[in-house]
Amino acid sequence: MTTPMRAQYLELKQQYPDTLLLFRLGDFYETFDEDAEVLADVCEVTLTSRPVGQNQRVPLAGVPYHSVDSYLAKLMDSGIKVAIAEQVSEPGKGLVDRKITQVLTRGTLTSPDLLTARSNRLAAVHFAPDRLSAGIAASDVTEGSCQATQLQDSHPDELCARVIDELIRLEPSEVLLPAATTDRVPALAPALDRLDASVSELEPWIWAEPGATRRVLEHCRIARLDGFGLTNKPQAVAAVSALFHYVGEYQPAIAEHLNRVQTYETSGFMLLDEYTRLNLELVENLRTRQVEGSLLETLDHTRTPMGTRLLRDWLGRPLLDTDSINARLDAVEALFENGLALSDVQELLGRIGDLTRWVQRVVYGSAFPRDLGGIRDTLGLMPDLNRSLQEFGTAAAPEFLEPVPECAAALDLLQAALPDELPATLAQGGLIREGFRPELDDLKRRAQAARERLLAMEESERSATGLPGIKVGFNRVFGYYLEVPKAQSTRVPDTYIRKQTLVNAERYFTEELKHLETEILNSEERTAELEQQLFREVAQSLQAHAEELRGLARRLARLDVAAALAQAARDNRYVRPEMHDGFDIAIAQGRHPVVEATLSETRFVPNDLRMTEESAIQILTGPNMAGKSTYLRQAAVICLMAQMGSFVPAESARLGLVDRIFTRIGASDAIQRGLSTFMVEMIETAYILNHATRRSLLILDEIGRGTSTYDGLAIAWAILEFVHNAEGLGAKTLFATHFHELTDLADRLPKVQNRHVQVDDSGGSITFLHTIAEGAAGRSFGVHVGRMAGLPKAVHERAAEILGQLEESGAAVPDSLTDLIQAPAPDQTVQSTLFLEEHPALQALRQLDVNSLSPMEAMNRLYDLVRIAEEHDG
Ligand SMILES: Nc1ncnc2c1ncn2[C@@H]1O[C@H](COP(=O)(O)OP(=O)(O)O)[C@@H](O)[C@H]1O
Ligand SMILES: [Mg+2]
Repeated sequence: MTTPMRAQYLELKQQYPDTLLLFRLGDFYETFDEDAEVLADVCEVTLTSRPVGQNQRVPLAGVPYHSVDSYLAKLMDSGIKVAIAEQVSEPGKGLVDRKITQVLTRGTLTSPDLLTARSNRLAAVHFAPDRLSAGIAASDVTEGSCQATQLQDSHPDELCARVIDELIRLEPSEVLLPAATTDRVPALAPALDRLDASVSELEPWIWAEPGATRRVLEHCRIARLDGFGLTNKPQAVAAVSALFHYVGEYQPAIAEHLNRVQTYETSGFMLLDEYTRLNLELVENLRTRQVEGSLLETLDHTRTPMGTRLLRDWLGRPLLDTDSINARLDAVEALFENGLALSDVQELLGRIGDLTRWVQRVVYGSAFPRDLGGIRDTLGLMPDLNRSLQEFGTAAAPEFLEPVPECAAALDLLQAALPDELPATLAQGGLIREGFRPELDDLKRRAQAARERLLAMEESERSATGLPGIKVGFNRVFGYYLEVPKAQSTRVPDTYIRKQTLVNAERYFTEELKHLETEILNSEERTAELEQQLFREVAQSLQAHAEELRGLARRLARLDVAAALAQAARDNRYVRPEMHDGFDIAIAQGRHPVVEATLSETRFVPNDLRMTEESAIQILTGPNMAGKSTYLRQAAVICLMAQMGSFVPAESARLGLVDRIFTRIGASDAIQRGLSTFMVEMIETAYILNHATRRSLLILDEIGRGTSTYDGLAIAWAILEFVHNAEGLGAKTLFATHFHELTDLADRLPKVQNRHVQVDDSGGSITFLHTIAEGAAGRSFGVHVGRMAGLPKAVHERAAEILGQLEESGAAVPDSLTDLIQAPAPDQTVQSTLFLEEHPALQALRQLDVNSLSPMEAMNRLYDLVRIAEEHDG
């Protein structure tokens, strides 16, 4: 026999078997059985047990209801779905009624306590059986948006890579997949890990036709898919359908309002693959994966949460046509030119909160008092904002700078209904402004009058009874009372009825007091009820203005982003890039926006970059730490900034549109990803060569470093030849390398040119000048560095000699060093030692395979040599 409560629990649990059920028991949310074990584990609370019938105990763990949010956050982060069963009847005799009032899944959260200001997306992915096409649907329920796309490719692996790139851009916190997808598409699993999204597998029938199409049509109450652009996109339909199914299952109140789909084509935007986003540190830095030190951080002068989200979106989807880029640039320029009006606009935007999410909670019928307050305060600022916008005129960029809708009707409603200050929750009272509803004011006045009469009783009772110690008091258990000190309590009149005895006093009530108390409590209760009812009515009437308000939120977000970019441009001296459809790039005195911001004392050294058909491929040589990687990334970042509509860090920039930016950074950075680094490099490079077009920008940094010299050199060489010669390729390519031999390519291939980063070694030490100059770097650089490092004369002289012999041999890839390098002349100082034994530094030097060393390794070896020499001498 189980207890009735156990039966109730099991019944509720059955409603959402795959969620963790929080079962409200007094001041706690309790969990049982396996749920208790999960809760104890994830939230680090004690696991105990509880009897649920004769001789039966089950595991139990609970959390206090008043701090449940912090535990919910932990459960959400762990990707656990949670159902909350509340007590819905007054506790009394027998079993309290309980109902599941909320279900939480990570991708469908709307509560401000559980969300960050970032987008929170739920995504669904469906692959066709041949894995040559896939659909992705994504929804941010806090914005009420749903987008879908269908991707196609000629090879399953490539399709999968594109799906992953798009998922990485969307950054969903929860992903829906048909069951067993990761078995069919193994490459997806590690990508989902990197995304840190919780994954829910849904049964195949949910994605299958004809049910999928029917669900979408019925859910959106439409007759045909054309309006959403979903015709002939079966994979996208499957994904949308599963997304609707899932939201409908767990969040029916939200699902009902999520009934529009926008399809988009990834071809409308510059594709940024996962590695490129990472390597260019667009939204997070490579080391800690935080926003600090990213391009986003440098540009983010937005003042509203929806603006911040939109800026992130712009960064992830640079545009591909000059007109729409220029439309954004026009807005940025207008704001840039008028600093005074810009700061007015930004100041006003700074006083606006998350309008999008406030409005969306109104739509879902789950608005908090301060959501409505926030909407009202925002609307109140719009006339000021429009006055500031007048400064810009509308000719420049109407989509950004024309007056925003002031939503006067919604504002009137909210101003009339809501008091200036609003409580955090509906339960707290003070939701409705005086004068909004006479009935409510009346109730409040009656309670107030009763309270005043009750307080007046203190005086009247004192004089009537002649007992000066009488006080009126209130506590939550006993209600109102008259308190009389013990010493005077023998003299109270008969009309006093004892209520409670304390050590020093007695507490009484009288008929009149009881009457007033009832009056107060009744009117307070009715006040609270009426206030909540009125508040809900106001929120509901506001729904009629939801579209207008959403439109306003979108306008404000766009304005915020344009203003942020204008502000970044002013702060950091950026210029408007000139965009064109040709091939050439001409950047005068370009800088890296993030590196420049991190250099506090030293000044960033600007550099030019000119790329034409004749100089499409540029090979950059120079020692480690000279600034090669920075220069390469800077070129990519400037192109990307321009195409997202931002000004750029340069004195001037004339930029041909690029369709894609590919970056591959050799070896060391890729190590964490687990694959052998050379394998990774080759996979990534293969991907580039298969996808780049003549209009792409290729950033290849030390490709081939992850393997032995000969392999690496050979492959680097072949890659450059391919980019140069392949039909339809000849893409703009910047190639940084430590393989000096590659500079020979400039003589053989007409579009290849050499550049090098200059260093000054004329003084006693090496100075990195960070300037880019024509031609290749000197080959003997390591030997120079050795001299600077204080290597014994004999060692660096011998090193120079070996180098000379290597160079004389003329072979880029010598067969054997022993044949090539002659023994040192007998008159070397090292040999004139008393012992015939060779100097250990020289021994070490003999074992050195110069060709297999990267500049950094060469430096390290030289330091070792110095140490050996010092140890030996001293
Ligand atoms: N143009 C520049 N002006 C000033 N400092 C620079 C510049 N380029 C690079 N640096 C500095 O030099 C460091 C090394 O640059 P990096 O590009 O990684 O060199 P490399 O790739 O040649 O080893 C950077 O971290 C940065 O601090
Ligand atoms: Mg580098």
